[in-house]
Amino acid sequence: MDRPRITIFDTTLRDGEQSPGCSMNVQEKLRLAQQLDRLGVDVIEAGFPIASDGDFEAVQSIAASLRRPIIAGLARACTGDVDRAWQALQGAAHPRIHVFLATSDIHLKYKLRITREKCLEQAREAVRHAKSLCVDVEFSPEDATRTDVAFLCQVVEAVIAAGATTVNIPDTVGYSMPEEYGNLIRTLRERVAGIDRVTISTHCHNDLGLAVANSLAGVQAGARQVECAINGIGERAGNASLEEIVMAMRVRPDRYPYETAIAGEHLYPSSQMLAEITRVPVQPNKAIIGRNAFAHEAGIHQDGMLKNPLTYEIMTPQSVGVPDSRLVLGKHSGRHALALRCEQLGHQFERRELDEIYRRFVVLADRIKKVQDSHLLELIQDVASGDVSNRDVAGSPSMKFPPAAATLPFPRAVSAAAGANANDSHPAQVSGSAGQASVSIPFTDHHSEQEDYLWGV
Ligand code: KIV
Ligand code: ZN
Repeated sequence: MDRPRITIFDTTLRDGEQSPGCSMNVQEKLRLAQQLDRLGVDVIEAGFPIASDGDFEAVQSIAASLRRPIIAGLARACTGDVDRAWQALQGAAHPRIHVFLATSDIHLKYKLRITREKCLEQAREAVRHAKSLCVDVEFSPEDATRTDVAFLCQVVEAVIAAGATTVNIPDTVGYSMPEEYGNLIRTLRERVAGIDRVTISTHCHNDLGLAVANSLAGVQAGARQVECAINGIGERAGNASLEEIVMAMRVRPDRYPYETAIAGEHLYPSSQMLAEITRVPVQPNKAIIGRNAFAHEAGIHQDGMLKNPLTYEIMTPQSVGVPDSRLVLGKHSGRHALALRCEQLGHQFERRELDEIYRRFVVLADRIKKVQDSHLLELIQDVASGDVSNRDVAGSPSMKFPPAAATLPFPRAVSAAAGANANDSHPAQVSGSAGQASVSIPFTDHHSEQEDYLWGV
């Protein structure tokens, strides 16, 4: 039997960008959006166009350049915001206007200073206006989990009647418990007229560390869209982490029998790219994509891993795109291995660009023996920013790179035994997730035989 398909709505570029220290410029947002496209997300919330000219421009350029995913622009429930969002989305193949308005008494009384009646009317009017412009309209009753349930049902019913196609239920302040959140989704399904015509969505914040658990409870209760962000970034403690939600469903289909279109092997590269762009590092013990997520140090664990990786690994590093530590980058490495590692870190290069990276890489490898991912990312940044000083690769006394690499980023010390795992693959491949094609390195044309030879070096 076909499993229900869950729409992955990525809000890294909107809610995620609102987290302290995570702001991105237009070019950076576009680069990340292209990676989200490779990752296979269904919806990219590209920004909040009325918020700033930069946000407007980012939504506009993402809308104009990505053809497959739905591109959403956020708007408060008023004409000016909705019009601005629609203007930014003009070039989109699949535009969505996302309208929001707070519905909890706390927000109505202290923030908006409006009555419930006014709130209901404003939500209805804003959705009606958005619908007159765009067929795909999402509505979010902000602070839904602290809203009086009867009033929430009234608002949701009104916006569906006004033309909303997705109704998102935000746990804006991360207050809900999983059972409670699941029950709220069930209640809406039972009480709201027309709810079967729309997609119900989750949007959970992580203030109590329950964003992923709440989102999964919502899906079990009938939600079919999940709003989430790479590395779980977002307001305050963040949003539900995209990689955790996707892998929970993939590793435990017995509990969560749902499908997503996410290409698992792009999870780690996406995480790395975001960390590199924002310069906000991922905590080492972060599930799925943290530096220690596949590291085994204790003797008993290493022994178990050597005997059978299933003893301590519930998924393979390859299934989420974590580079295999067997592929050590040193002075004997060739362009092929270097290109693969760059790709795993979220960077795809043309031949000529890779040649320059390779040239600097060899000089560096000669000096520090093992080139780690962090070194490579800095080197890539130097090349991208046009830094021609070679300050770190010419043997200068720079302290940027340590004299020798102490540990590998993923010290999977016993990975030689990993072949026993069905999902494992050759170290020079990035394995696809279920039903996904393997990623190949697209450097096979436009070069001479001599270059072909060098390519294999
Ligand atoms: O957390 C929230 O309520 C939001 C809405 C704008 C969807 O981010
Ligand atoms: Zn939010």
